[in-house]
Amino acid sequence: MEKEKVVFLRGKKTILRPLNKETDLNFCWQWINDQDVIQYISLYLPVSIQDQAEWFDNLIKRKQDIVLGIEIPDKGLIGTISLHKIDWKDRTTEHGVVIGAKDCWSKGYGKDAHMTLLNYVFNTLNLRKINSSFISFNRRSRNYHLTCGYKIEGRRRKQVYRNGKYWDIVIVGLFRKEWITAWKKYQREE
Ligand SMILES: CC(C)(COP(=O)(O)OP(=O)(O)OC[C@H]1O[C@@H](n2cnc3c(N)ncnc32)[C@H](O)[C@@H]1OP(=O)(O)O)[C@@H](O)C(=O)NCCC(=O)NCCS
Repeated sequence: MEKEKVVFLRGKKTILRPLNKETDLNFCWQWINDQDVIQYISLYLPVSIQDQAEWFDNLIKRKQDIVLGIEIPDKGLIGTISLHKIDWKDRTTEHGVVIGAKDCWSKGYGKDAHMTLLNYVFNTLNLRKINSSFISFNRRSRNYHLTCGYKIEGRRRKQVYRNGKYWDIVIVGLFRKEWITAWKKYQREE
C-alpha cells in the first residue's frame, strides 16, 4: 500500500513537508556534491554519505531551525527551504533555500515555496522580520528575493571566493508589511 503523503504547507505548485532520512538522503547527498548547485551557497568540500546521514540525524536537535522539503507533483522532492536562527525575542529569522534538481530551476517552484513559507513565517509563527543574502552573481536568487518584497539592506564587499574571483554578498530583509503586497499580488496570479 502506498504511504500517505505528508503535507505540512501547501502552495500553488509545491508542497512543503518535513524531511525523511529514509527517502530523502540519497537525493540530498547528490545535490550537496553538485558544483553547479553549491557554487551559490556556502558549501565547497565533498560530503560523504555518512556526513549527510549525520546531518539528517542532527536535524531534530536544531530547535532554532526549521528545514522543510520542497515537493512537486509527479517528481517528488526537488529541494529544501529553511528558517535558521529563529529568535523568539526579536522575532527574526534567517532564510535558506536550495532547489537541488537543476531541471526544476526557473519554473516558479522556488517563488511558490518561498511565498508559502513566508505566509507561515508571518501569519503562523508571528515573526516580524526575515533576513537573507545572496552572492552578487546569483541573478535568480536576487529576483527570487525581490519578487517576494525583500529590500536590499547592504553589501559585504568582495566577501566570498567563487569560480576564481571575489564577489559581494548582498544582504536583504523583509518585514510582514512589505511581504503582504507581494503576497496579495501572487494570490491573484494564475
Ligand atoms: C534560487 C532558487 C531558489 C530560485 O528558485 P527558482 O524556482 O529557480 O526561481 P523561480 O522560477 O521561482 O523565479 C523566481 C524569480 O526569479 C526570476 N528568475 C527565474 N530564473 C531566472 C534567471 N535565470 N535569471 C534571472 N531571474 C530569474 C523569476 O522570473 C522570478 O521573478 P518574478 O516573480 O519577478 O518573475 C533556485 O534557482 C535555486 O535553488 N538555485 C540554486 C541554489 C541557490 O541559488 N540558492 C539560493 C542561495 S541564496
